Amino acid sequence: MDTLDAPQGRFVLTRYPVRRNEQLRAWDAADDYLLRFLADQQRPGWAAGSTVIVNDGWGALAVALAADTPVSLSDSFVSHRATRENLMANSVVATDVTCVASRGRLSTPITTLVVKVPRSLALLEDQLCHVAPHVTADTIVVAGAMTKNIHTSTVELFELILGPTRTSLAEKKARLIICTPNPDRIAAVSPWPCSFTLEGGQPVISHAGVFSAERLDLGTRFLLDKLRIGVGPQQVVDLGCGNGILGLLSASQNPESEVTFVDESYLAVASAEATFRANLGPDRAARFMVGNGLFDAADGDSLAFDTVDRVLCNPPFHIDNALGDATAWQMFSESRQALRIGGELWVVGNRHLAYHAKLKRIFGHCEVVAGNAKFVVLRAVRSETRRAQAPADLHDDDDVHDG
Ligand SMILES: C[S@@+](CC[C@H](N)C(=O)[O-])C[C@H]1O[C@@H](n2cnc3c(N)ncnc32)[C@H](O)[C@@H]1O
Repeated sequence: MDTLDAPQGRFVLTRYPVRRNEQLRAWDAADDYLLRFLADQQRPGWAAGSTVIVNDGWGALAVALAADTPVSLSDSFVSHRATRENLMANSVVATDVTCVASRGRLSTPITTLVVKVPRSLALLEDQLCHVAPHVTADTIVVAGAMTKNIHTSTVELFELILGPTRTSLAEKKARLIICTPNPDRIAAVSPWPCSFTLEGGQPVISHAGVFSAERLDLGTRFLLDKLRIGVGPQQVVDLGCGNGILGLLSASQNPESEVTFVDESYLAVASAEATFRANLGPDRAARFMVGNGLFDAADGDSLAFDTVDRVLCNPPFHIDNALGDATAWQMFSESRQALRIGGELWVVGNRHLAYHAKLKRIFGHCEVVAGNAKFVVLRAVRSETRRAQAPADLHDDDDVHDG
């Protein structure tokens, strides 16, 4: 738990899910810089109005600006969960902040627009196009990021979509982008979603910011080449589905299977659904779940323990610009909980990530199905009834294995 001292107050903030030995703070120097900039705007005569925060990582901005009853727009379910938890931890009434998914409804006009620049330029473009109709000439528009994440192309997007833009001096390696909306600007239209076609002719639809949005990822391709598709009625999960290619091809090859697509990105799940429907039509059964792993989804939606025949997973390994494997640990141990005895987890990963060792510790064994210079495809079978430890508690230094 960290304390953020901002002009708006002193706040305790934690990342989500809470992990033992967490090394990373729940806010960065850009959050701090943004809050100081915004406090300076609140001079006499300044009126709070409709504040929209975009891409608040762990809720630091929403918690600090809660008095303005902001809308927090994000593509990340985990960020929204973190925001809720941090509001509670700071005794802020949860309804003071409205969490809205990417492309969610916004009220007009926005008085203050606060943007944390995301890693994906495509996502930023889509988000700016989405908020632009609600931005007036009087809207305060400020964005922030660590300097290494602000490029000429980032500034150009603000210029192009909203109006004249300048950058601040750097402070603690963070920088602000300050934009004066042009009232005469021409409305920009987002080029997203986009689509491409797989070698087998299947269309794939991707919303902005989704993993490998414009081509089949090499790791995903390697897993597809090596995957042995099950036969007969099967419950399959595409965990961390992105645009849903793994689940789609699995469902196409086994008409009796039912696939659940899960991702923490709202736009990923929307992409997976669009891709699935474009290929298999409106009537083929499937579930589309926005959630943090398998057991922490919106509206209490969740998978049942011991029911799944097969989980397909190409785990994320870049968390917030820091290399981290906590999500992979979580995905593997939750998969084991969701699988029935005899059910299989199929994983593809970069060779150097050593997923093999993790799977061995969680499942007690792991088969290396295939490997090349860059990737390995791994398969682990759930062999007995004892549950793995709670996912949030799994770490490299824990002794987790089947007996
Ligand atoms: C490497 S991509 C794989 C996407 C897709 N399966 C493919 O192979 O093209 C990993 C995916 O995991 C998702 N993800 C990250 N953290 C997650 C979490 N806590 N729960 C569910 N999905 C998550 C990311 O949004 C991303 O779409």
